[in-house]
Amino acid sequence: MEKAKSILDYETVELLDNEDAIQIIDQTLLPGETKLIKLYTAKEIWDAIYLLQVRGAPAIGVTAGFGIYLLTKLVPVPDDTPENHDRNFTLLHEAFEKNKEYLASSRPTAVNLSWALNRMEKLFLTLGEDRSLTMAQIKERLREEAQTIKREDIEVCRRIGEYGLTLVKPGDGLMTHCNAGQLACCKYGTATAPMYLGQERGYHFHVYCDETRPLLQGARLTAYELHSAGIEVTLECDDMSSSLMRQGKINAVFVGCDRVAANGDAANKIGTSVDAIVAARYHVPFYVCAPTSTIDMSLKSGAQIPIEMRKPEEVTTMWYEKRMAPEGIDVYNPAFDVTDNELIAGIVTEYGIARAPYTESLKAIFEEKKNHPIQV
Ligand code: MRU
Repeated sequence: MEKAKSILDYETVELLDNEDAIQIIDQTLLPGETKLIKLYTAKEIWDAIYLLQVRGAPAIGVTAGFGIYLLTKLVPVPDDTPENHDRNFTLLHEAFEKNKEYLASSRPTAVNLSWALNRMEKLFLTLGEDRSLTMAQIKERLREEAQTIKREDIEVCRRIGEYGLTLVKPGDGLMTHCNAGQLACCKYGTATAPMYLGQERGYHFHVYCDETRPLLQGARLTAYELHSAGIEVTLECDDMSSSLMRQGKINAVFVGCDRVAANGDAANKIGTSVDAIVAARYHVPFYVCAPTSTIDMSLKSGAQIPIEMRKPEEVTTMWYEKRMAPEGIDVYNPAFDVTDNELIAGIVTEYGIARAPYTESLKAIFEEKKNHPIQV
């Protein structure tokens, strides 16, 4: 009998080049329904990111890479010969910049969005200087770059998993917040990568997932994907993490991040910093898993990280049969918070584990990246 398909058998984000579409799993419907949807237009891509149909910093970056490629590909080019390079490139360039700005406005905190768009733009502008190229050739190179971003994400997460695994031992109790899993990336996830690799190697971790109010990414996504992988998982409400840590059930906390500043302050899903504070109280090491694409060395500290504010309905009505708060009540609903660097025991990147002082160690990580770029 054929094995039933698990959520881990689906691609989080896929380019369907022949159909001029991006295919994603609509994550707002999980775990109840696994529905693949296709995005064709700039508005559809923008909405999918804003509505969290595709979410998680690396997956947003990959979607943006595919998006800017597809939207550029769809610009019609008259007489596409090298002789018309300048005229045609101006045409493409106008569309590229308009779409880049539009996509970048969909969500402000996860830096992978602008990172991927800037990376695509850098290549695009370099290619634009080569007058021997047709626009079809330029479009083809953009497609390759977007696919490389996706392939790199898988390798980056695998490496984060290997480094993360050196921080724990078989049988450990691990805690995580939100979803920094395969559904937030292309495979392995970041915070979940040590868990998946540990599972393959018989580590028998017990993972505790915060449900992650208000959008429940921990309950709907992390608990779902880890459970599907056969990992032992216990779900708890966000306000139960202190109880677990006080009892000594947690040996380490692994979380993802949406943007890390040069001093190691890390923005991640709202509630992350609460776990970090509790972990410090109970001497549980708190690790942030961060691909270098999520580290923003242009920001000195977490105070400069833009924090997305979201609609009150996510707190008052969503998920409930009837409204759970008085009509007209004021609601505070930031999507992310910043964990102070001194609460972080290590930042696990694809180039190793950065330790305090982060201003120094993160610089060294980027130096390592410059000298040994990932080849995929
Ligand atoms: O609002 P979301 O669901 O996009 O928030 C996701 C998170 O905060 C993740 O922890 C983060 O993006 C890291 S994903 C590897």
